[in-house]
Amino acid sequence: MKIKSATFSISAKNLEDCPVWEPTEVAFIGRSNVGKSSMINMLTNKDGLAKVSATPGKTRLLNFFLINESWILVDLPGYGYAKVSKDSKIDFNESVGDYLEHRENLAHVFVLIDSRLTPQKIDVDFVHWLSGCPVPFTLVFTKADKQSLKKTTTTVDLFLQAIDGFRAEPPPVIVSSSKDRTGRVEILQSVERAISSR
Ligand code: GTP
Ligand code: MG
Repeated sequence: MKIKSATFSISAKNLEDCPVWEPTEVAFIGRSNVGKSSMINMLTNKDGLAKVSATPGKTRLLNFFLINESWILVDLPGYGYAKVSKDSKIDFNESVGDYLEHRENLAHVFVLIDSRLTPQKIDVDFVHWLSGCPVPFTLVFTKADKQSLKKTTTTVDLFLQAIDGFRAEPPPVIVSSSKDRTGRVEILQSVERAISSR
């Protein structure tokens, strides 16, 4: 898919606040600082479309971007920076949970995971929760430029072991780097498939 245009459309506080419209949505989520905004800018070829910051946890709203005048990319607030709740429920925004569970426009979710880390409980718990939702998802291992492919392959394998059995089929995996644009073609192909299957 060629990206011809990408513009910020609207922000929403929660599911009720989301726009009623036709286009298919594809959402990006991950822990704060995983490289979500950088990835959105890399995919759209637009530096500064999504805010990249050294201070984690900046994105608090659901941000909708109109791509090629035809589909919507959704930048979701990262999990892991809200206060941990006492009953140790997964620590992410309730409005994000509602959106992922109930948004009818949503065709696919990309879950971003730092390729340098061994499986983190918060990511595993999130994928466990998401596995109970009907929406299909892909795991995207970010910042692969920071280490050898061998190390990345090891963390991917460990993560797939940690989530083994959450769904009947293991999710597709894409290795990415916003710095050297690794994974861009695969992610956009996956978006294209998601849109045409809705
Ligand atoms: P929040 O919105 O704050 O939760 O963070 P985010 O997930 O949007 O991450 P962001 O894109 O702001 O990136 C966080 C930091 O990681 C920044 O310093 C980026 O420059 C850096 N970074 C992101 N992606 C990559 C990558 O692929 N390679 C390298 N080397 N650095 C990256
Ligand atoms: Mg961000």
